[in-house]
Amino acid sequence: MMAWTDRHCRAFHRLLSNRALLYTEMVTTGALLHGDVERHLAFGQSEHPVALQLGGSDPAELQHSAKLAQDWGYDEVNLNVGCPSDRVQRGKIGACLMGEPQLVADCVAAMRDAVDIPVTVKCRIGIDRQDAYEPFAEFIDTVSRGGCEVFIVHARKAWLDGLSPKENREVPPLRYDMVYRIKRERPDLTIVINGGIDSIDACNDHLRHVDGVMLGRAAYQRPWLLAGVDSALFGDGRPMPTRDAVMGGLRDYAAQELAAGTALKHVVKPVFGLYHGQPGGRMFRRVLSESGHAPDAGLDVLDDALAAVKLAEQKAA
Ligand SMILES: Cc1cc2nc3c(=O)[nH]c(=O)nc-3n(C[C@H](O)[C@H](O)[C@H](O)COP(=O)(O)O)c2cc1C
Repeated sequence: MMAWTDRHCRAFHRLLSNRALLYTEMVTTGALLHGDVERHLAFGQSEHPVALQLGGSDPAELQHSAKLAQDWGYDEVNLNVGCPSDRVQRGKIGACLMGEPQLVADCVAAMRDAVDIPVTVKCRIGIDRQDAYEPFAEFIDTVSRGGCEVFIVHARKAWLDGLSPKENREVPPLRYDMVYRIKRERPDLTIVINGGIDSIDACNDHLRHVDGVMLGRAAYQRPWLLAGVDSALFGDGRPMPTRDAVMGGLRDYAAQELAAGTALKHVVKPVFGLYHGQPGGRMFRRVLSESGHAPDAGLDVLDDALAAVKLAEQKAA
């Protein structure tokens, strides 16, 4: 998620779940052609399995970027056909491509020609006045003819004119039924559902109808949700981590990153909500957000945040 997630966030999420597939935020083909490739693509080995999400609509540029994804070791490359922001529309990126299924199919075909890793698409159920199921199904069919076998569907349409990106994640109603139907009618495709899913129970309900679930905001805002994923969704027999063990892993990660010159604020930003709803959770967040920002912030900030939790736990006991 742009401006929210990055490699530090994924490293943290990986401490919570061994099995969840993690996605990068969208990286545009332009950024990879003209920008700092290493800054956009570098990631830690602990993050696997991890998918690179691309934004673009030029088949040759996407082919080049997909090759980079494979060369850098990503496990999947995903094309964004869901982002509604004005800025990306001007670049013919994101949800506006729902209106150009053949172009998306050509993009997918070009990407598939260049790589062995899976090429997947994240899309919406429609754009603007398109509410019917048929154009959505036609989009899926056309793009699957281009070679895409896995679709992650944000189960609401996007209004490209008039709604902000935030409103486009909240205002158009969720139509899970359309996502279930496409799976029912195209059983050979892998269909992953996304949008408004915020508990393990909800994931399990959706999994009765589709092949996978993608969590966005809930996983970021309440990261502890991810700790239940391996056992409850993947049937993984390993014991669930504890929050304290996750903090131990994070401390090791932070030590490595500090040594490499990363400022602590980048490492702790996705961690604020780890003790959400727990004794000391608010103090934990406050210590990280206030002290973690100092340019010379070090591991003692993590220790202080954890100490605040321990104190609150003792008081609550
Ligand atoms: C701050 C923010 C940034 C986002 N950036 C991306 C992005 O880069 N690529 C993408 O496919 N979706 C992006 N999304 C959309 C989410 O992936 C997801 O589709 C949407 O939030 C609905 O799912 P949720 O209800 O589980 O959050 C973003 C969402 C937020 C809140």
